Amino acid sequence: MTEHKKLVIGVFGFGVVGEGLYRVLQQTASLNATIKKVCIKNPGKKRNAPAELFTTEKSELLNDAEINVIVEVIDDANAAFDIVSTAIKNGMATVSASKKMIAEHLPELLSLQQQFDVPFLYEASACASIPVIRNLEEYYDNDLLQSISGIVNGSTNFILTKIFEEGITFSKALLAAQQLGFAESNPDLDVLGIDAVNKLAILLVHSYGIVSLPGDLLYSGIKNIELSDAKVAAEKGCQVKLVAKAVKLKNGKVTAFLLPHFVKPSSQLYTVRNEYNGVVIESSFSDEQFFYGKGAGSLPTASAVLSDISALSYGYRYEYKKLRYHTPSELTNDLYLKVYISFDALKNIPKEEFEWIEEFYNGQERSYLIGVIHFNKLVKDNWWKQEGISLIALPDSIIENIDIRKLKKRSLELAGIVG
Ligand code: HSE
Repeated sequence: MTEHKKLVIGVFGFGVVGEGLYRVLQQTASLNATIKKVCIKNPGKKRNAPAELFTTEKSELLNDAEINVIVEVIDDANAAFDIVSTAIKNGMATVSASKKMIAEHLPELLSLQQQFDVPFLYEASACASIPVIRNLEEYYDNDLLQSISGIVNGSTNFILTKIFEEGITFSKALLAAQQLGFAESNPDLDVLGIDAVNKLAILLVHSYGIVSLPGDLLYSGIKNIELSDAKVAAEKGCQVKLVAKAVKLKNGKVTAFLLPHFVKPSSQLYTVRNEYNGVVIESSFSDEQFFYGKGAGSLPTASAVLSDISALSYGYRYEYKKLRYHTPSELTNDLYLKVYISFDALKNIPKEEFEWIEEFYNGQERSYLIGVIHFNKLVKDNWWKQEGISLIALPDSIIENIDIRKLKKRSLELAGIVG
């Protein structure tokens, strides 16, 4: 049996994930790895580890010849990029959980890894404890991968569960998500969908070889979702969940977006509650597979960091197979989406933008419509993100080619207007 490489680790950050890592490493005797130093920002804070472990001087880690792995689990994306890029340039294998930093710097991080021939692993950055990146990277061939759809943010799923199942208010649910260590230190990142779209951007490179900046993807969060939306969802037998999707269309191109969705009980995602995440992967011959696990929190996230550290000990690195050994897929906005939109004032809804409106409910306090709109119209305009308007994708929201006459006839039939 080959001896695994001894790993001497320098850790940046001792927050929720850093402290979790310290704890899980102490309980993983089989791994030949020790933390030599932890770099922190605030030396005054009381920490549950020996004082001599800590420093505020990053060069003590980055210039230590004995340290061969840098683990970066800090909260500040700019500082994180600085640390990670310096570590890679110094030839140190690097592990990170900073999804915002990774998503926003994917092109640079890809070229730094190639240029300096250094492994950079970040399993914890998407769906925390679920090993989805490594599975997408290693197992699913680009040609066979039909779609991924997932609940990839624990805090928003926790909040939706608490509001709609337990009837507690948004602000109380958010506070609980913060106290439990699920939420970002700026919780707007969770609530507005930014954290989840960052994760979608990371998953896209490992599933389809698509390198895209998160800001270029269509996304929204849960801030505008109302109790009345959940009631309509329930009438239709659905739940509201924030779902990230990447789907290969019939023309071979891929569409990717993050939107609240009406999720049917037949979907595995329907059962995903609280801070859990779930990802359904659909491939040509095996149909659907479902990955499920804790998507936030100290030890679940630390377990993914630990698994990356362990993978480094046998020389594992991402090869970005879909990007480098296949022709990467191309993103497209040329499709239609079927969406539910609720609003308090009809005048704020550009009805003429819709190809077809198949349901319209005019309520005293809140109204809604269900209609079909071109994807690009949502990309280009922001009216649907404004306060007072909530947009939720229908379960089978993607319409690739629209035949308006057929759709109109079917809608009229459904409405009982023609036979
Ligand atoms: N704030 C993130 C979430 C943490 O709630 O999913 C894990 O990435």
